[in-house]
Amino acid sequence: MINDLWYKNGVIYCLSVGTYMDANGDGIGDFKGLQRRLDYLHGLGITALWLMPFQPSPRRDDGYDVADYYGVDPSYGTLGDFVEFTHGCRQRGIRVIIDLVVNHTSDQHPWFQSARASKDSPYRDWYVWAEKRPPNANEGMVFPGVQKSTWTRDKEAGAWYFHRFYDFQPDLNTSNPSVQAEILKIMGFWIQLGVSGFRMDAVPFIIASKGAKVKKPIEQYDMLRTFREFLQWREGDAIILAEANVLPETDMEYFGHDGDRMHMMFNFQVNQHLFYALASADCRPLAKALMATKPRPDTAQWGQFLRNHDELDLGRLTKAQRETVFEAFGADKNMQLYDRGIRRRLAPMLGGDRRRLELAYSLMFTLPGTPVIRYGDEIGMGDDLDLPERNGARTPMQWSAEPHAGFTANDKPCLPVIDEGPYGYEHVNAAKQRRDPNSMLNWTERIVRMRKEVPEIGWGDFEIIAVRDAAVLVIRYDWHNNSVLFVHNFDEKPREISFSVGLGDGGGKLLINLLSEDHSHADEKGRHRLLIEGYGYHWYRVGGLDYLLKRSDVDTSVRKKRKV
Ligand code: NOJ
Ligand code: CA
Repeated sequence: MINDLWYKNGVIYCLSVGTYMDANGDGIGDFKGLQRRLDYLHGLGITALWLMPFQPSPRRDDGYDVADYYGVDPSYGTLGDFVEFTHGCRQRGIRVIIDLVVNHTSDQHPWFQSARASKDSPYRDWYVWAEKRPPNANEGMVFPGVQKSTWTRDKEAGAWYFHRFYDFQPDLNTSNPSVQAEILKIMGFWIQLGVSGFRMDAVPFIIASKGAKVKKPIEQYDMLRTFREFLQWREGDAIILAEANVLPETDMEYFGHDGDRMHMMFNFQVNQHLFYALASADCRPLAKALMATKPRPDTAQWGQFLRNHDELDLGRLTKAQRETVFEAFGADKNMQLYDRGIRRRLAPMLGGDRRRLELAYSLMFTLPGTPVIRYGDEIGMGDDLDLPERNGARTPMQWSAEPHAGFTANDKPCLPVIDEGPYGYEHVNAAKQRRDPNSMLNWTERIVRMRKEVPEIGWGDFEIIAVRDAAVLVIRYDWHNNSVLFVHNFDEKPREISFSVGLGDGGGKLLINLLSEDHSHADEKGRHRLLIEGYGYHWYRVGGLDYLLKRSDVDTSVRKKRKV
């Protein structure tokens, strides 16, 4: 198969323009500021940027309430700045994907304003109305505890409108052909301005049938094919990365059995079980989640992540598993959100323990798929739980020890910079870490480099290797007659494990460590015995005599030392 599907072996970095870098000193991050940080991002080695919504918006849901799909919010800059930015990315070989939020609009969007004003408005049918309060108005809230219902009466319209999310986010009637045509037009617009695709927000809700009479929504999967077809017609290598927290049995409906729907999806199933593994040192449910999400078309890809801009949603775990994760990482009620998740950043969840952070990231980088890093995680940023809801994990990027972390020259940043405690910007910032060879930042840079040199992960098939220890996960990838193998120990204590690489005759006798000099030779029976340190992670290239002699990129000293 052709190897130029860029999203199969990339490293994605997501950020919000408003909290990344403020160039004009008004306290709000902007495209000019982001542009100045492109060399930093390039140096980190990332291959694609995912920008959270930056379109004009009242920002009552951090921009996921769009008021104009064809513009840039004036606080962030102009369309001209946006194009300069995508050009700057292209010069550095970085692709840009942007959020596409079309399940709903802001209630301030002119379409909704027109729709509510008159039954005869051409936009009336762009939204979902009911004359009377639907009986299920108290069901299906995405933000329980904060959101009271999914239907709200609008005085001006004299009717009730449907909103899967907050009441200021009226749902678009996505079954309406005019709405679908508009969605394509929006994609076409941004593609023309240089983006390589979209992170599509709330996909299961976009394709679900909506209405007061709908008891059990029907998924209109065909819509996904229409989106993809259009996109690829306009720009062959553009992709859609779907936000769809669905059960593994429907994954193939989203990817398309013929690989004709979504190019990528976030792997929520693995994400939740991964946190369970980190909390309990039992990685068996994670192994199960990996197997359950294994089937996917050749051209499709998972996005693997640790934390994102939302709460860590634990809704797919069993009650007991969820309790275990809460206890380990978010025991305090104030750390929890929407009865199902934790609203903290990764570093404080893991107690700032560098060994655990490396373990978590090493794992993320070696899971089947393409890794997605959240800005600030590369320096181990913390959270501010005094901020409401999900904002606690959305504070500005910490660049230096200058006031407000060098994020802005303004005294009133749009969100407060963390300035106290162990995660305060005087301790945790990019400038300081750049100078320290042992910093998290430099570790991340090295692991990104290594990940890019192991395309087997993105492209290959994987197998989980049986070991008799629930705390240790061993995965092997095979691609084009090459194999790599990864060992992760979720326990704080060292473990001794034994396994066979499982490649049959003579294969896998030698494991070449990619991160240290500690290589492993199999015994006469072909088994490897490893001592792996607490929270340890090992990356190996699988080798045998023939294999080693053929490869030019394997350090010759390994061959000499081991007399192979
Ligand atoms: C999912 C986004 O990730 C979240 O931040 C947002 O609030 C909802 N979709 C609604 O757009
Ligand atoms: Ca600004």
